[in-house]
Amino acid sequence: MRSVKSYRAPQNPNRESMPHPLTARRSARISGRVRVPGDKSISHRALILGALAIGRTRIAGLLAAEDVMATAQAVDELGAEVTQKDGTVEVLGQGVGGLRAPQGPLDFGNSGTGSRLMLGVVAGHDMRVEFTGDASLCRRPMGRVLTPLITMGLQVEAQGEGGTLPLTVRGTGDILPIEYDLPVPSAQVKSAILFAGLHAPGRTTVIEPLATRDHTERMLAFFGAELHAEDKAGGGRAVTVCGDAELHGAALSVPGDPSSAAFLIAAALICPGSDLVVENVLMNPTRTGFLDTLREMGASIEVLDLRDEGGEPVGDLRVKAGPLKGVRVPPERAPSMIDEYPVLAVVAAFAEGETHMAGLAELKVKESDRLAATAAGLEACGVAVRIEGDDLIVRGRGAVKGGALVETHMDHRIAMAFLILGLGASEPVTVDDVTMIATSFPGFAALMTSLGAELA
Ligand code: S3P
Repeated sequence: MRSVKSYRAPQNPNRESMPHPLTARRSARISGRVRVPGDKSISHRALILGALAIGRTRIAGLLAAEDVMATAQAVDELGAEVTQKDGTVEVLGQGVGGLRAPQGPLDFGNSGTGSRLMLGVVAGHDMRVEFTGDASLCRRPMGRVLTPLITMGLQVEAQGEGGTLPLTVRGTGDILPIEYDLPVPSAQVKSAILFAGLHAPGRTTVIEPLATRDHTERMLAFFGAELHAEDKAGGGRAVTVCGDAELHGAALSVPGDPSSAAFLIAAALICPGSDLVVENVLMNPTRTGFLDTLREMGASIEVLDLRDEGGEPVGDLRVKAGPLKGVRVPPERAPSMIDEYPVLAVVAAFAEGETHMAGLAELKVKESDRLAATAAGLEACGVAVRIEGDDLIVRGRGAVKGGALVETHMDHRIAMAFLILGLGASEPVTVDDVTMIATSFPGFAALMTSLGAELA
């Protein structure tokens, strides 16, 4: 049995001063049968709900990436011991309201999800906690989470300029239930409010304008919380959690991350002759917008053996290369594929015709401004691309020149997206730094290479 202190993925304190570039070259075919690491969203939530449950939670397939390890470390410092044995992670839950103040600041590294979800947890505990993170996380907006949590009773004692990390907050044992209309479609904000609502006397309701990923709701029900969800006209949803909840430790298995599988799928689509099976991929309908869009573009993607695992649908995906055409991606689809737009834009560059991706305002506040970073990278690689308001428009010509150095802006998904572009481009593509890939997809380059990708 190893403590999370030794289990934590190695962090590189000099990361910002030691970039590690990598070059992708045109590759023959991407083929094989593989699995991708566990889903990041589910991994964070499993650790957090494990900490808030009574008794032990056993998690198989937890994503062993830096973002999730930061949450594991935070949960451990709050008194819910995290250990690992034979590939299973165990959390010793302390019950809702049972966590204790940490010794020092909680450092979430690059993780927006970990930090925002944990703000909701801390809000319902009478304790003072300092939240910090890396340079990218310290630029991201926290006001969207703080505003509803302050209404519930959280106090903010110190914050970075414009309401960013580093933040010092004081939670309360007397948190209040609220009904809150989300101004942005964000699963992170929804989840933070629901986690705070677990401690409140009464019902806490979040109304979302467009349905976002629902792993928190599914997992809360799995751990024994009383929860109601109601679909609203126009694609929205109201979710209510009953407070003073008692959660019970559970055993769960984390399926493969569809946002990581997206890079493999994209590579198989653009490298001629590819035939790839990605096994055990999460197929939750709030996460499958990328697959829907690719099918509209003409992609050959088959779902084999669709099954249920621990309250989430899972399947094996078979992808074959083939010609693609440009499509219009409606704004209401954005929440179900928000992390996949950079790699979709790359695929669109290899399609024939225009792909118009509408309503991407949220992309500007991810690990980098992904709207700008994606457009700049495509342009450097000779792709005709433009931004109109919050829309990204890519004119595909069936082939891409490449031959560029792409700036990743400390963003793992920009790095992976442009390495994929390089596998199909005529000339090699170098990305300036791949160290951030470890935040979500450890072993990405080795896995891609094992499938036939030319990365060095
Ligand atoms: C996530 C929600 C999304 C997504 C992020 C993970 C989650 O962010 O981009 O990678 O696990 O809840 P928003 O909720 O801010 O859209």
